[in-house]
Amino acid sequence: MTQEPLLSVKNLTVEYVTPRGNVRAVDNVSFEIGRGEVFGLAGESGSGKSTAAMAAMRLLQPPAIITGGEVLFEGQDILAMTDEELRFFRWKKIALVFQSAMNALNPVLTVGEQIADVLRTHEGMAPAPALERASELLQLVGIEPSRLKSFPHQLSGGMRQRVVIAIALALKPPLLFMDEPTTALDVVVQKEILQQIAELKDQLGFSILFITHDLSLMLEFCDKVGILYAGRLAEIAPAKQLFGDPQHPYTRGLMHSFPELHGSRHRMEGIPGSPPDMRQPPKGCRFHPRCKEAGPECELHLPRLVELGANHYGACVKVTPSQIPKNPQQKEYRS
Ligand SMILES: Nc1ncnc2c1ncn2[C@@H]1O[C@H](COP(=O)(O)OP(=O)(O)O)[C@@H](O)[C@H]1O
Ligand SMILES: [Mg+2]
Repeated sequence: MTQEPLLSVKNLTVEYVTPRGNVRAVDNVSFEIGRGEVFGLAGESGSGKSTAAMAAMRLLQPPAIITGGEVLFEGQDILAMTDEELRFFRWKKIALVFQSAMNALNPVLTVGEQIADVLRTHEGMAPAPALERASELLQLVGIEPSRLKSFPHQLSGGMRQRVVIAIALALKPPLLFMDEPTTALDVVVQKEILQQIAELKDQLGFSILFITHDLSLMLEFCDKVGILYAGRLAEIAPAKQLFGDPQHPYTRGLMHSFPELHGSRHRMEGIPGSPPDMRQPPKGCRFHPRCKEAGPECELHLPRLVELGANHYGACVKVTPSQIPKNPQQKEYRS
């Protein structure tokens, strides 16, 4: 029997209501995150990564509306929870760290007070033990306990983001959503923080939804990766498999857009053109106007994710038939 995933997102669809028609920012997106696993969601800016994550946490505000799907956490549908259930659920079960979170710290409270506040509010801890635990949490993320008395402006950007991670971990959530958690920081600090998160994950056993537009961070950090294009999953596979043998032309284009992780920096090829206007997405495959490999058939149908190898799925009519020729058993993703 396979273990139930911690989080299972099924056919999630989200639209923004605008005066000029609805924009479907997330279209039928499905993925699973197992216990202790890091799932990466990658794609260019505007591909729907943040919208998908915020929808899954029910943090989206109008004009965004969730028009379809389920988000099951340990089997319970987050999208069907009452407000009270949600209040208990957020932070305790899923905590969020976003890109500019470090700027959302309260400037007039010390970091110790801010961490202790979370513990007092959510766990009902008394002030002294809350401060004691805040000190432990700071050490956990690599900050000296003496910094308990520091105000946010007395810390570097990297340290502030570490404080935010300490706050996210305060209630020991089994799942962390990290939306571009290090994008605002310089490359060296980024690496240090991601290394620390990886160590904490191994030590504490939580799972992560890791969102970035930077594929070079994904390979080292993620177990599985989904590539989002114009709100739809183009490809989804174990990270090593995806980077070792990318199938979708968009994934290959993205991989050429970034310098190699360990190799010498080479010229960035990029992908010609820009993502579509989502109010009027192209017919057929959303990527075909930018795709070097596109043929007339790509304009006809929206490709579905089909199996290309073990746990490897891609949504491209160009790669599907050649990968597993004449396989009547070829599975459709989650069909
Ligand atoms: N408030 C909004 N109103 C209308 N459309 C929006 C709004 N916010 C985001 N969108 C649309 O949703 C798409 C996905 O945005 P987002 O989830 O922020 O992408 P990402 O996180 O991948 O950069 C964007 O391309 C944009 O068209
Ligand atoms: Mg985003």
